[in-house]
Amino acid sequence: MYFGVDYHPEQWVYPYGGTRERPEAAWERDMELMQTAGINVVRMGEFTWGLCEPEEGKYQFGWLTRVMNLLGKAGIKVVLATPTAAPPLWLARKHPEILPVDEHGLIKREGTRRAVCLNSNVYWNASKQIVENMAKALGHHPQLIAWQIDNSLGGNFTEAAFNEDTRRDWHLWLEAKYETIERLNELMGLRHWGQIVASWDQVPMPMTAPTVHNPALVVDWCRFCSDTIVQFVKMQADLLHQLTPKCPVTTNLRPLLHRFDHFDLAEAIDFVSIESTAALKAKSAELACEIDMLRSLKKTDIRTPNGDAGFWVIEQKAGNVTWQDVNSLVRPGVLRMFTYQLVSRGATAIVFFRWRQPRFGSEKFHGAVLPHNARDTARVFKEVAQLGDEMKLLGPSIRGTHVEAETCILYSHDNDWALQQPMQPNKHFNLREHIQLFYNALHDRNLTVDFARPTEDLSRYKLVFAPSLYLLSGGEADRLKLYVQNGGTLVATFNTGLVDEHNMAPDTGYPHDLTDLFGLEVLEFDQLPPGEENHLTFKGAFPASHMHPARVWCDIIEPKDCQVIATYAKDFYAGRAAMTMHTFGLGKAVYIGTQSHQHFYNDVVTWLRQMCNLQPLLKVPDTVEVSMRQKEDTKIFFLLNHQNSPQRIQFYKPMHDFLTGNTFSGNYDLPPFGVLVLDEHPGIKT
Ligand code: GAL
Repeated sequence: MYFGVDYHPEQWVYPYGGTRERPEAAWERDMELMQTAGINVVRMGEFTWGLCEPEEGKYQFGWLTRVMNLLGKAGIKVVLATPTAAPPLWLARKHPEILPVDEHGLIKREGTRRAVCLNSNVYWNASKQIVENMAKALGHHPQLIAWQIDNSLGGNFTEAAFNEDTRRDWHLWLEAKYETIERLNELMGLRHWGQIVASWDQVPMPMTAPTVHNPALVVDWCRFCSDTIVQFVKMQADLLHQLTPKCPVTTNLRPLLHRFDHFDLAEAIDFVSIESTAALKAKSAELACEIDMLRSLKKTDIRTPNGDAGFWVIEQKAGNVTWQDVNSLVRPGVLRMFTYQLVSRGATAIVFFRWRQPRFGSEKFHGAVLPHNARDTARVFKEVAQLGDEMKLLGPSIRGTHVEAETCILYSHDNDWALQQPMQPNKHFNLREHIQLFYNALHDRNLTVDFARPTEDLSRYKLVFAPSLYLLSGGEADRLKLYVQNGGTLVATFNTGLVDEHNMAPDTGYPHDLTDLFGLEVLEFDQLPPGEENHLTFKGAFPASHMHPARVWCDIIEPKDCQVIATYAKDFYAGRAAMTMHTFGLGKAVYIGTQSHQHFYNDVVTWLRQMCNLQPLLKVPDTVEVSMRQKEDTKIFFLLNHQNSPQRIQFYKPMHDFLTGNTFSGNYDLPPFGVLVLDEHPGIKT
C-alpha cells in the first residue's frame, strides 16, 4: 500500500532551509523523517512551471532530478504532477490573451495559480511544451510511478472563462452537436423571448445579463465547459502515455464540487485520485457519501502504479485548512479515524497534504504533517507515523480487496446543472440534501452504496435510488425500465422527468417516458415554503416508526395501476396518493412524491431491506460506522467510532483484530474515535 505526502522541496532550499554552502541540505533531513513516518511515496511538482521554465524555452529540471535521486536512496517513489495549474508570469505577460475573462467581461489578472483560459490555443500549446519537456527530462527516472495531470481542475471557480477563444470553441461545439441552426433554435427553445439565432456566431455565452439565460443554453454551456476540461486532461494523458507508457496517469478530484462531468473525466485517466478534508464535516455520513461518490467514478479499466484497483487519496488534509473563516485544529485521533474511513471505502493509497507547513505564501498556516519547525515530536507527525506503521501491517491483507455494493444511488451532472438554474419550482429544494437523506438511511443501516450514472449497467444492484432526476433523457429512462423489467427495485421521487435532455418539458405527462414504469401520472406539483408541512398517511404494511411530514414539494399523483402506499393528510389533495409501488416486469418501481424527514428514509430502507433481502454488514450501534473490503472468501470489516465517548459493541463470533493480532468475542468497548479492523476468526468461519 502506498502511504505518503505532498512534498514541496522547492520551498526548502536556501535561504528557507539548508545553508549557503549546501542549499539543498534540508531535503536530506526530510527523507530521514519521511522514513521514520513510514512514507513510501511523495507527490510533487504541481506548481513548479515557473521554476522548471523560468524563461521561455529555458528548462531547469536538474533540481527535480536531484530530489528524485535522494528519494530513491530513501526508497520513496514519486508521483509527478504536470505543472499546468500555475502558469509562469512571463507567459501571461507575453500572451495576455491566456488570462481568463469572467462573466462580467473583466479579465482575471496574472499572479496566482489557475490564471488561464483553457480554450486558449496559446495556453494549450504552452502546456503541451512544458509537459513534453518534463516527461522527457524526468519520465524515465526509476522513482517515477505515476503522473498527476494539472491540479484540482476547476478549483477557485475556474471551470468557465468567457474569452474570445472560448466563444470560438463554443460555437464549434454547438455546430458539432446541433448540425443546423434550425435544430439549435428548435431544441434550445430560442423562441422564448424571441432569442432565435441566424448563425452560430450569434449564440451568446451566458454572461451577466439583465435576467436569466435560457436554461437549455446554460446546461449546454456547462457541458461544453466540462468537455473543455476533459479534453485538456486527455491531451496531457495522451502525451504522457505516448512518452512514458509505463506510468499511469491520474488527477486530483474533489467531491463532485467543481462544474465538470467527473465520470467523463475519470474515463480520461487511468485511476482516480481524490482530495479529502476530514476537518470540515461534522457528520461522518457526509464524508462517507463523498468518498463513495468518488470511488464510484471509475469502476472498470483501472490501472494504478502497483496494479491494485481502487482509488488514491492524493490530498488527505493533515489538519486544519486555511480557507474557512475559523480554521480549527483537527482533534487527536480524528485524522487517523478519517484516514481509516477512506481505506475502508476502497482507498489503496493515502497521501497527506502536505509534508511541512511552508514559511511563506497564502497557505503558510495550513495544517501539515510537520509544523514550520519540523520537529518530529509534533502531534500530527506522531499520529501520521503511527498510521504509517499500521498501514505497513495492514497493507498486505487489504491488497486486492475491493468494496462491493448491492445498493446504488443515481446521479448525473447534467441533472445537477439543470437543477442549479434559477426559476425552479422551489428554491429550497437541494439535490445534494435530497441525496444525503437516502444515503444516511443506507449508511446508518450499514448497507454499502455505490453511485452511478443512470446510463450505467445497474443489473448488479438489488436496490437503486433515483432522487430527483429532473433532467432525464429518453436513453436514461429506457435504462431504468430495463433494470426494473429484469427484476430490480427502483425508488424514484418527485422532481423526476420534468424535462428531457434538451431541457424541454414533455407534453405526454410526467415523469416523461416513465409513467408506464411507475403506473401513474403526476398531474401537478405543489410547493411548500420552509416551515410548512403536509403529512403522510400510510396504508398497508409500511413500517412507519414516526409521523412523517411531507415537505418542500408535493406531487399530485393520478394512480393508474400502481399500489398506493401513502396519501396526503390535508389540503385540497388530502387522500390523494403521495407514495406508490408498481410491479413492472420482474421488478418493482416505488415512487415517492414528496420530501420528508430523516426518519421516513430510514423507514423506507428498513421496508425495502426486507423486500430486497439486503443484509447489514454487521450489527453495531448506529454511532459506529461499518464498512467492508473483500476478495474471494476474505471479508475485512472496518469499525469506526465517530463519537468522543467509548461505544460498546457485542460480537457473537470470535473476531481477529488486524492491528493487534488478538482474537476476541463478546463485549468490546471501542474507544473515542477508535478504529477496529477485523475479520472473522479463520478457524470459525461459517
Ligand atoms: C487543494 C489544492 C492544494 C491546496 C489545498 C488547500 O484543493 O490542490 O494545492 O491549495 O486545496 O486546502
